[in-house]
Amino acid sequence: MRRVVVAALLAVLTWSGHALAGDFPSHPITLVVPFSAGGPTDAMARILGERMQKTLGQPITIENVTGAGGSLGVGRVVRAPPDGYTVSIGHLGTHVANGAIYKLGYDLVTDLEPVVLLPSNPMIIVSKNGVPAKTLPELLAWMRAKPTPPTAGTAGAGSGSHIAGLYFENITGIKLQYVPYRGTAPALNDLIAGQIDIIVDQTSNSIAQVRAGTIRAYAVTDDKRVESAPDIPTTDEAGLPGFHMTLWSGLWVPKNTPKDVVIRLNQAAVEALNDPAARKKFQDLGLEIPKPSELSPEALGGWQKAEIAKWWPMIKAANVKIE
Ligand code: MLT
Repeated sequence: MRRVVVAALLAVLTWSGHALAGDFPSHPITLVVPFSAGGPTDAMARILGERMQKTLGQPITIENVTGAGGSLGVGRVVRAPPDGYTVSIGHLGTHVANGAIYKLGYDLVTDLEPVVLLPSNPMIIVSKNGVPAKTLPELLAWMRAKPTPPTAGTAGAGSGSHIAGLYFENITGIKLQYVPYRGTAPALNDLIAGQIDIIVDQTSNSIAQVRAGTIRAYAVTDDKRVESAPDIPTTDEAGLPGFHMTLWSGLWVPKNTPKDVVIRLNQAAVEALNDPAARKKFQDLGLEIPKPSELSPEALGGWQKAEIAKWWPMIKAANVKIE
């Protein structure tokens, strides 16, 4: 009789999605990337996933669910069972900005459980090679002299590249014509092809093409240069003092995911961030790895709330129209 009760209880717990951390994970985990394959968030997810699966002993499969500035991919995770098997990777755009732009149908803070803060990188101002400018002041002069607004590639309204564009408009007074893509990977392809004028992109996405000479870089949006790209000036040095923006990323799971499952995922991610081979891959992309004190689930939760308070006023003031 007692055995029947225990078996029934286990069945109920498992059915209701309450994974027992003891055996978590017992099957593959899906990491939902809300942007196109080949872009900066996808690249980070693949480096992280490859190392985390070693710790967790189960495959981590990447699922790219794109659209609406990444909000569709996040929504996919919000609606998933709270068992740790569906994980959201996102950033300042998807887990902060989108809440000020879209009627999401979910709450970025209360419908998701923060797991861990991930590497960050400053944005970089890049243009097609066809632009007759070598310095930032020359680029700004060319943009101001243009009869029509310069075109700026983004990963959709609310994405990191869009928020950076809004901030750029605020600081320079130059109006941009946004060209939305499902990620900055396809946007970068069009920049290389000269189809669009600029992207205020994540350094990790553009740096390889800058090094290859297929696009031109003007500055990184930080007060210090990127270690892996010491030749690119900061916005302070290049003539746009104070234009600082760092795009940070993180992992989240659906709310009500058992605490010990969250901790297990956090531990696996922290191990990946401390792994020398994974660290080198991140740093070569110009990514900065968070400090140990910033790696608890609570730290990400607190940081996300602080960033919402910081960025929503500017984003709401921009009165972004969703096409
Ligand atoms: C991407 O992976 O495409 C980016 O994270 C998009 C963005 O937010 O700019």
